[in-house]
This record gives sequence, structure tokens and C-alpha cells, in this order.
Amino acid sequence: MARKVMHAVWYTGYGGGAAGLKHVEIPIPSPCKDEILMKVEAASINPIDWKIHNGFARPVLPKKFPFIPLSDVAGEVVKVGPGVKKFKAGDKIVSTLGGPSAGGGLAEYVVAKESLTVPRPREVSAADGACLGIAACAALHSLTVTGGLKLDKTKPRTNVLITAASGGVGHYAVQLAKLGNTHVTATCGARNIHFVKSLGADEVLDYRTPEGAALKSPSGQKYDIVVNCTTGIPWSTFKPNLSPTGKVIDITPSGGTFWNCAVQKLTFSKKQVTPLLVNPSAQEIGFLVKLVKEGKLKTVIDSRYPFSQAEAAWAKSIEGHATGKVVVEL
Ligand SMILES: NC(=O)c1ccc[n+]([C@@H]2O[C@H](COP(=O)([O-])OP(=O)(O)OC[C@H]3O[C@@H](n4cnc5c(N)ncnc54)[C@H](OP(=O)(O)O)[C@@H]3O)[C@@H](O)[C@H]2O)c1
Repeated sequence: MARKVMHAVWYTGYGGGAAGLKHVEIPIPSPCKDEILMKVEAASINPIDWKIHNGFARPVLPKKFPFIPLSDVAGEVVKVGPGVKKFKAGDKIVSTLGGPSAGGGLAEYVVAKESLTVPRPREVSAADGACLGIAACAALHSLTVTGGLKLDKTKPRTNVLITAASGGVGHYAVQLAKLGNTHVTATCGARNIHFVKSLGADEVLDYRTPEGAALKSPSGQKYDIVVNCTTGIPWSTFKPNLSPTGKVIDITPSGGTFWNCAVQKLTFSKKQVTPLLVNPSAQEIGFLVKLVKEGKLKTVIDSRYPFSQAEAAWAKSIEGHATGKVVVEL
């Protein structure tokens, strides 16, 4: 490869929002034994990316400054390390670089582990593929691993509630839940009710209404599984809406979530809340890529930004009003 340097966007300290991002020119990284050098075509933003920048996991994350954010990427293989068996230069791929703590994706080139990379069929665009890491894996893991939902129609019906169903995680969760034998209730803002219904939700509540805030199913369902993708809903609101063995999977856990979870375990409560932090795996991403290829799952992109406007994409995600995913394209 003739080029030695690349454009990247990094931040050098905590805070500062979009203004804290800086465009720089730095050396192109080299892949080690089991690594792939990827030319990035698209990277998606997850709220955890800017939460780390805000100091949410200070001083543990990021591991060091300067830090290039974004971990969910799709692109093309440029070069592989000597131990890489499954990929060669020119292959189209999707990779999660090792969860949000890894970073590196907001750059023209990034090194990805072979073990966290999957092939990208031509039916899956770079932008669509780049969104499938943290967001879609959180939806899949919540429903199937923690929630125990089977994504086929052979099991008894499960009542599912998905909060913030219009967001990056929620819009995948609604579609994935509907692959099972489910009745899906969803919450979102009024402007997205039709959108969330179009994803397959059976009933949708506006979260700004009293009924929506109370999470009450209009048809009187009691929820077996809740995937909570928003913040600020107390256990006392979830509890009366759960079936006798209903479970809340909280992907935005607070101290109260951990406390309630511990108390419920000690008291053998059948209704439970489970905090969940997902680390995407290649197996899960591969499964999701296959669903997209087969037309069973779609990525909805709120907005696409060129690399030169990465700060605007960052600001858009921070606003918290995306419908679907925010993507940076290179
Ligand atoms: N634990 C994990 O492994 C994990 C993984 C991924 C994400 N997360 C976390 O999960 C949360 C959601 O992530 P995301 O990517 O889906 O965020 P997002 O895309 O930024 O979510 C934005 C959407 O949420 C809606 N919304 C906001 N507050 C709401 C409420 N109270 N009720 C219903 N809808 C509401 C907004 O609608 P309006 O515009 O109408 O307000 C908007 O459409 C974030 O806190 C993120 O950090 C955790």
C-alpha cells in the first residue's frame, strides 16, 4: 500500500461535545497476526461512544488519550495479518472492533480482529452493516439470551414491551421480537408512532402521554419480557405491567437497577429486572447480517454524514432524538 498516513477524528480529553473532536492525519495502522486492515466505508455512532467522551466511565475508559471513537464499522479488507485465514484483500466485511471501549472506527483505516469480523454480502450495504454491532446485538441479546425468546413462531405467545422503540436499539428490537410468536407493545414519541407500527409493533404508546408514561398496554397485555432502551422509568412503573414471571432487561441500568436486581434475587421474586451490558460477538453479527440479507431485518438510518462532518453526526446522536441510526460515511 503506497499511502502511509490517513485522516482520523479523535479527542484528547473528556468533555467538549462535538467541539472536542479533532480531524488529524496519523499513520495508517498495521495488522498483527490475527488482524485485518480495513478501509472503512461506514461507521455508526452509539450513545456509549459520546458517553465515554463525557467521562461516564472515567478514569477507566477510554483506555488512553488521544482516542479515536466508534467501534461499529463496515468496509473492505486492504491487507491481512499472517494468521488470518477467513479473509483476503478486497473482501467486504462488517466488524465490531471490540465493543465501545475499543474505538478506532472514525478513521479512513482501522485494524480489526478476524474473530470480530464477518463477511458482508452484496445485499448488505456498508452503512446498514456498520449499524449491526452494539445496537442490533443489544436488541438480539436482550430478547433471546437474557429474555429467552425464540425467534420462530412455534412457541407459545410472548408479550413483549420495547421502550424507545424508535431509537437505534429499539427499532431492531421490535423487528427481531416480531420474528418470534409475540405481541409487541412499544413506546416512542408521537411523531414516530406510524414508523414503529411499520416495523411490526402491534400497539404503540406515546411516551409523553399518561398512558405511555405508565407503560399500560392499550389491549391489557401483561409483559413477559421488557427491553428497556430508555432511562428514568422506576421499577414501580414496570412491576404492575409484568406477567407473574415477567422480566425487565435494562440496557440503561442505573444504581437502582442493580439494587432491585439484588433484592429480587435474595427474595426469590418471580418478577425481575436484569441489567445488561452487551459485548457484540461475530456470531451474533453474522446472524444479524444474514437476517438483513434475507430481508427479515432492516437497518433504519436516521441520518448519514460525510467524514468531514463527523462532528455534526456526533451532535445529532447526543441530541437523543434519532429515528434509527446515525452513520458516518467515508
Ligand atoms: N447495555 C448495552 O449493552 C447497550 C447497548 C446499546 C445501547 N445502550 C443504551 O441504550 C440506550 C438507547 O440507545 P439507542 O442507540 O437506541 O439510543 P438513540 O438511538 O439515541 O435513542 C433515541 C430515540 O429514543 C427515543 N426516546 C427518548 N426517550 C424516550 C422515552 N422516555 N420513551 C420512549 N422513547 C424515547 C427518542 O424519541 P424522541 O425523539 O421522540 O424523544 C429517539 O427516537 C442508550 O442509553 C444507550 O447508551 C446500551
